[in-house]
Amino acid sequence: MGDYVQMLTAALHCLDPERAHRLAIRGLGMGLVPRRRKDGWAKLSTDLAGLKLPNPLGLAAGFDKNAEAIVGLAKVGFGWLEVGTITPKLQTGNPKPRIFRLPTDRALINRLGFNNQGLDAAARRLAQRNPDHGVIGANIGANRDAEDPIKDYVTCLDRLYPLADYFTINVSSPNTPGLRDLQGKERLTRLLAALIERRATLQRGSASGKPLFLKIAPDLAPDDEIDVAEVAHGQEIDGLIIANTTLDRPDHLRDSAKSETGGLSGRPVFQRSTAQIGRFYDMIGSKLPLIGVGGVESGETAYAKIKAGASALQIYTGFIYGGPGLIPTILDDLDRRLVTDGFSALKEAVGSASGDNSSPPARE
Ligand code: FNR
Repeated sequence: MGDYVQMLTAALHCLDPERAHRLAIRGLGMGLVPRRRKDGWAKLSTDLAGLKLPNPLGLAAGFDKNAEAIVGLAKVGFGWLEVGTITPKLQTGNPKPRIFRLPTDRALINRLGFNNQGLDAAARRLAQRNPDHGVIGANIGANRDAEDPIKDYVTCLDRLYPLADYFTINVSSPNTPGLRDLQGKERLTRLLAALIERRATLQRGSASGKPLFLKIAPDLAPDDEIDVAEVAHGQEIDGLIIANTTLDRPDHLRDSAKSETGGLSGRPVFQRSTAQIGRFYDMIGSKLPLIGVGGVESGETAYAKIKAGASALQIYTGFIYGGPGLIPTILDDLDRRLVTDGFSALKEAVGSASGDNSSPPARE
């Protein structure tokens, strides 16, 4: 059945990207995927802000925006899953076409604009999850027409708090006008303070609150990175997800779709986002965990992010091109690399390349 799934993945690539995605979500939602192991690599189990992960490789936000495919995704081998971005109200997003493949560059460009079925639909599905599905986080955002975006995030946290294991505050999608402005010092402070305060109310009775992660853009200016590090640490956020898609278009892109508007993901963002992990690790790595996402597609790229300072990883575009079989392949290779380098646990390797963080391995 493994080969059959890889063939299906290849067949989906003949269809329009968004149609292919819908079909994949439907198939996964019905659990039509073979079960692959997600644990058993002794060195790969880890702890992320108190979450026990069987392995560090998670599914990044945006793939299962509405929590429709958890049943299948939980079988693929991921160590954890993130659903969303979820906004309070249903939103149709930008006009189609709005996802573009750049196969030669192993990349995607999307300008979806937070299309999602809204908080009620996601909450209904998350309420059906069971412990076999493992750790599941909810990525939350604001509606495009929100009068008070901070209120939208708080509304999502309120509703989803009992249903998810952690929350990602997404202030970094490039396709909602003004959203990235929430990364500015003053507005970010207010947003995080509101969410931390709300969490304190919601956690009443339990010893500690569920983790809140902040997901940032790879396009922040150096001064803004310093501000984000200060605010995230000052507000006692539990981790940073580095990073979302980029608006940059590196010169080496070859596919004609490179001129489409939107966020670029996949292989071309690997270097940029890994270097950013390194800078944040140097600033605050000892104080809060970093989650590396952007261009993970192999054991080599996964390991490079760990060594730059990531405690855990997420993948999206690599999964689209590589299919479900890629996940255990990455984990096998990552495990071998830890053995080769003499590490007895993943944690020991985190940040081990710190110091030469300005130059992660070059990618084509
Ligand atoms: C995304 N990403 C994303 N991120 C997020 O926080 N909320 C979202 O709704 C989405 N939506 C989305 C749609 C599509 C089609 C893509 C390709 C990406 C960003 C994603 O989670 C990840 O941060 C980047 O894609 C970089 O990782 P990869 O794709 O290079 O592994």
